[in-house]
Amino acid sequence: SENGQAGKPAKTRDIRKVAVIGAGVMGAGIAAQVANAGIETLLLDIVPEGADDRSAIAKGAIAKLEKAEPAAFMAKRNARLVVPGNIEDDLEKLAACDWIIEAVVERLDVKQALYARIDAARAPGTPVSSNTSTIPLGDLTRGLPDGFRRDFLITHFFNPPRYMRLLEVVAGPETDPASLARVSAFADLKLGKTVVPCKDTPGFIANRLGTYWLQAAVIEALDLGLSVEEADAVMGRPFGFPKTGVFGLLDLVGLDLMPHVQGSLKRALPADDPFHAVLRDVPLIEEMIRTGYTGRKGKGGFYRLNRADGGKVK
Ligand code: NAI
Repeated sequence: SENGQAGKPAKTRDIRKVAVIGAGVMGAGIAAQVANAGIETLLLDIVPEGADDRSAIAKGAIAKLEKAEPAAFMAKRNARLVVPGNIEDDLEKLAACDWIIEAVVERLDVKQALYARIDAARAPGTPVSSNTSTIPLGDLTRGLPDGFRRDFLITHFFNPPRYMRLLEVVAGPETDPASLARVSAFADLKLGKTVVPCKDTPGFIANRLGTYWLQAAVIEALDLGLSVEEADAVMGRPFGFPKTGVFGLLDLVGLDLMPHVQGSLKRALPADDPFHAVLRDVPLIEEMIRTGYTGRKGKGGFYRLNRADGGKVK
């Protein structure tokens, strides 16, 4: 192999080359982080229909990060460590990668079809991980070969990957502890992540607890007639939460994400789970989504909306 260890199983090698499949919001951001660690990173997406350039999606994602979010690459040259490609022409390059991260659309069928192709292309023993937020590990690997299941885990990054230090990792009952240890050590030492092992439960830890307090804060603020500023003055820095506070964080994350995460939790949790009491639809949030006030990415969010509204949460 290229690092002079031909014949050794990938398991015993360092992680020197990484592949990220799916060049969307998360995949591109993750690839940039790996490149910032000085690691060559293959970034693959689908071939866009009718495009002249078959790797246009990955190339566009890198260009967009460089232009719109210059902080994504710690040095300009790091962008060149990200090698764009597509899953039709470049899959064989996975054989030279030491960690394959899947960050494609949140659809079980799409992910599973891709895993079969990854498994055929990767070197045996190479860890493969999914960035899924909501699909249980047991569902992702169902029907896939034992060898694949041994090297498979979930690595759940947070948006944006360059600011969010948390990495949740989920190993299945069949996951080889060596694959888990190898990926965790790399994420800790090279990516600077705080690696938290989680059980394969709905929302893992962060989305479960995070959704709970965001949702509870909005409901309580409405009930108490607090302004967003009043609520955030407390539920921000003083509580050790991000300086944006609860409402600022919702604006940052995007309000449209809330019903999505809620829906997946609602479906996944047992009917008698106490969480359901907080997982109710908030008419104000639904109205804001409907009218395009989804937060910073939309026309505005709690802050801009409320400036025109006298500072009240309703
Ligand atoms: P996105 O929609 O921005 O990007 C998905 C990309 O996957 C698109 O570029 C699409 O063309 C590509 N794709 C679809 N099928 C493919 C295939 N078969 N092979 C290669 N590429 C394919 O999605 P986003 O937000 O980046 O999410 C990706 C994954 O990360 C999902 O599993 C999501 O649940 C998870 N996630 C998302 C977070 C977020 O805040 N957006 C946070 C943490 C996890």
